[in-house]
Amino acid sequence: MPIVRGDLEFRNLTFGYNSQHSVLRNFQLVVPAGNTVALVGASGSGKTTVANLLLRFFYPDQGSILLDGIDIRRYPLHDYRSLFGVVLQDPYLFNETIRTNLLYARPEATEQTLIDALQQAQAWEFVSQLPGRLDYAVRDGGQGLSGGQRQRLAIARCLLLDSRFVILDEPTSALDVESEHLISRALEVLFRGRTVFIIAHRLSTIRRADRILVLEEGRVVQDGNYDHLIAQEGPFQKLHSLTTQGWVDVPRPTSGRLALDVPLGANERRPQR
Ligand SMILES: Nc1ncnc2c1ncn2[C@@H]1O[C@H](COP(=O)(O)OP(=O)(O)OP(=O)(O)O)[C@@H](O)[C@H]1O
Ligand SMILES: [Mg+2]
Repeated sequence: MPIVRGDLEFRNLTFGYNSQHSVLRNFQLVVPAGNTVALVGASGSGKTTVANLLLRFFYPDQGSILLDGIDIRRYPLHDYRSLFGVVLQDPYLFNETIRTNLLYARPEATEQTLIDALQQAQAWEFVSQLPGRLDYAVRDGGQGLSGGQRQRLAIARCLLLDSRFVILDEPTSALDVESEHLISRALEVLFRGRTVFIIAHRLSTIRRADRILVLEEGRVVQDGNYDHLIAQEGPFQKLHSLTTQGWVDVPRPTSGRLALDVPLGANERRPQR
């Protein structure tokens, strides 16, 4: 693909999954290549929707997303998608060996390349202790592994992809201090030299972002870096004070559709129906 710089622009996006309700309203954002942008806000505020539009799972009702000044709809879909590495909230692994799971990202990778990626993702230590190591057979989508381990395997897979853009939807559930630290180090490697969108729940990730957008019902209500936002009275301070551990989404009131796919964090309780 003829991508020169890799600058992204969200220009005046309005989008709803149905015509009655706009999930994003006049969403604007310019992301110069190499920047790290964090999206934060209550559950249902539209964070994942921004990622869905960027990945072209849906198209905006109004406005457009531009890559190097060209509407993303004009790039061939397959080429366009191949620019993105995605680490989901609850990473899915295939019921195959760890090796096969990693080779999906880079089929020609040598054994040493796989091990390097696992090391950089802080995953080699536990993989090397599994029976069969790279040949360890994952079961039930990775349920035998901890959330933090699956996360690090997903980061290794993303490193192998070596994509220009990375989208990370952080899990809301609390990790133990050790996993938190390992993931933080793994992300540092992953983010280096790439343009990164994080749907952020953790203080360590938010601190590192060049820019943080606070979303409320599909609108950007605050925009700035961590030091800037924490010094202002406003929604960021409020969200921030909700937890001392890191970042946890606030469940929405009981009206409307609930995002039940989100794993519950320590401070989160699923609202009663
Ligand atoms: N596929 C879908 N079809 C219909 N409505 C959807 C769909 N995905 C999300 N929504 C609705 O769009 C709104 C924004 O959802 P979105 O997933 O972007 O929120 P979010 O900020 O990522 O929340 P969370 O923190 O819980 O992940 C919510 O009202 C949600 O119910
Ligand atoms: Mg989401």
